[in-house]
Amino acid sequence: MGNRATLLILVLVMCYGLSIAFGFFEDKDWGQEREGREKKSENWFLLRDSKLVVQTDAGDMRVVRSVGGRIVDRPMHIGFITMKPKSLFIPQYLDSSLILFIRRGEAKVGLIYKDSLSEMQLKDGDVYRIPAGSTFYLLNTMEIHRLNVICSIDPSESLGMGVLQSFFVGGGTSPRSILSGFDSELLSSAFNVSTAELKSIMTRQQEGPIVYVSDSQAPSLWTKFLQLKEEDRLHHLKKMVDFQQQPTQEEVEEEQTNWSWRKLLNSAFANDKKPDNKRSKGTHESPDSYNLYNKKPDYRNSYGWSIAVDESDYSPLESSGIGLYLVNLTAGSMMAPHMNPRATEYGIVLRGTGRIQIVLPDGKSAMNAKVKEGDVFFVPKYFPFCQISSGNGPLEFFGFTTSARKNRPQFLAGANSILQTMRGPELAAAFGVSEERIRHLFNAQHEAVILPIHGEATKPPEK
Ligand SMILES: *[C@@H]1O[C@H](CO)[C@@H](O)[C@H](O)[C@H]1NC(C)=O
Ligand SMILES: *[C@@H]1O[C@H](CO)[C@@H](O)[C@H](O)[C@H]1NC(C)=O
Ligand SMILES: *[C@@H]1O[C@H](CO)[C@@H](O)[C@H](O)[C@H]1NC(C)=O
Repeated sequence: MGNRATLLILVLVMCYGLSIAFGFFEDKDWGQEREGREKKSENWFLLRDSKLVVQTDAGDMRVVRSVGGRIVDRPMHIGFITMKPKSLFIPQYLDSSLILFIRRGEAKVGLIYKDSLSEMQLKDGDVYRIPAGSTFYLLNTMEIHRLNVICSIDPSESLGMGVLQSFFVGGGTSPRSILSGFDSELLSSAFNVSTAELKSIMTRQQEGPIVYVSDSQAPSLWTKFLQLKEEDRLHHLKKMVDFQQQPTQEEVEEEQTNWSWRKLLNSAFANDKKPDNKRSKGTHESPDSYNLYNKKPDYRNSYGWSIAVDESDYSPLESSGIGLYLVNLTAGSMMAPHMNPRATEYGIVLRGTGRIQIVLPDGKSAMNAKVKEGDVFFVPKYFPFCQISSGNGPLEFFGFTTSARKNRPQFLAGANSILQTMRGPELAAAFGVSEERIRHLFNAQHEAVILPIHGEATKPPEK
C-alpha cells in the first residue's frame, strides 16, 4: 500500500512534467513583443498578440493574450474557438475559468459538476461558465454549420505555465491523455483491465484536441464515447481519474508540499468547495446558461442600445468576478465618452467597423484606432474612452469586464454626464467661462449614453 502511494506521487510528479511539455504556449517572446508595441504606442490598447493554440482538421482555437503589468487590474485572455460541423473538443480540464459565449451555432457542453455530468444545449447568445479544474467537453451538434465561441480566460487561478493549460482527460498519441503519464501496470490495476487492453485504448486517438464525431469521417473512440448513455459516460469519465481522488495517509502528508497539484486534481471533478448557498435544492444540478440576446436592453435610444449582465442576472459570474456587456450602435453614432470606475473592460468587435478612442490621464490621446470584426481591445479602469461606429453600418461589440458587480460607467458628455450633474459656478470657473456659456454647452445635447455624430467624426483617423 505504501509503495503504491509513493508510486502514485511519483507518477503525479511525472505527469506534471508532461503537462508542462504539452503546455499550450510558452512565454518566451512576450516581453519583446510588448516592448515593440510600446514603441508604436498608438495601438497599445488593441490586443494583437494572437496565437493558434489548437489546430486540427475539425477546428481550431486562437487565444488573444492580455497585456500584463499594472495598467490592467486583472489580465484576461480572450479565446476564439471554431469547430466544424459534428466535431468535439475532447474532455479536458483547464487551469483557468472560462466564460463561454456562443457567437454562432449550437453546442452541447458536458460539464462534471458536483459528481454528475450535466449536459447543456447552448445556442446563439448563450453564456455559460466553466470553472477551473472542472472537466468538460464541447460538441458542435450542427450537421452543416460551424460553431463559433468566444470565451474569457481568467488566469487568476492558473499555474502560470503559459496562457492556458489544458489537461486532456481523454486522448491517445495526440493529444496525450493525462493518464498516459502513469505507469501502465498501475493503470492496469486502477482500471482492472489488462495492460494490452489499456494500450489499445490509450494509443488510438491521434487527431488532436478537436475531432470529428461523424461516423464517415472518423469512427474514433470519441464517437463511441458519445454514443454511451449519460450514466455510462459519466462513469467512464470518472473512472479515468477516480484513483487520484482518494488520498491515502501518505498522500495526505504529501499534500502539504504538493498542495497545488492535488488541489487541481481534486477539483478536476468539480468539487466546488464553496458552500451550497442559494441553490441547495437537494439536487446537484449545475447552474443554467444565460442568454445575452434575450435580455431587454438596459439602455436604448434611436442611436443604439446596450446590455450589461452582472451577477444579479447570472449568479455564476459571482465566482468569476466577471461581468459581460453587449452594445449595438447604429451607423454613425457613438457611446458617449465615459470611464469605468471599477473595472477594466475587454471588448471584441462582433460586427461592423468603427473606432475606439482612449484618453490618457494627462488629457492626451492614448489611442485613436480603427477597429473591425474580430478585433480585441481593452480599456483600463479610469481611462476615458468612447466607441464610434462608422458611417456605413452598425457596430456591434461585446465583452467582459473585470467586475461582476454593477459597473457604473461615468459619462463625460451627454444629458446624463457628470459635468451636467455638476453644472454650476465651480465648473464654469474650472473652464474659465461664464455660467451662461457653460449652461449653453450642457443644454445643447439632449441625448444620453449613445449619441449621434456628425459626418466628420466617422472618417478614419489620418495615418
Ligand atoms: C476485476 O475484474 C474481475 C473480472 O474480470 C472481477 O472479478 C474483480 O472483482 C474485479 N476487481 C475489482 C477490484 O473490481
Ligand atoms: C511533491 O512530492 C514529491 C514526492 O514526495 C517530492 O519529491 C516533491 O519534492 C514534492 N514537490 C514539491 C513541489 O514539494
Ligand atoms: C444591431 O442593430 C442592427 C441595426 O442597426 C441590426 O440589424 C442588428 O441585428 C442588431 N444586432 C443585434 C445583435 O441585435
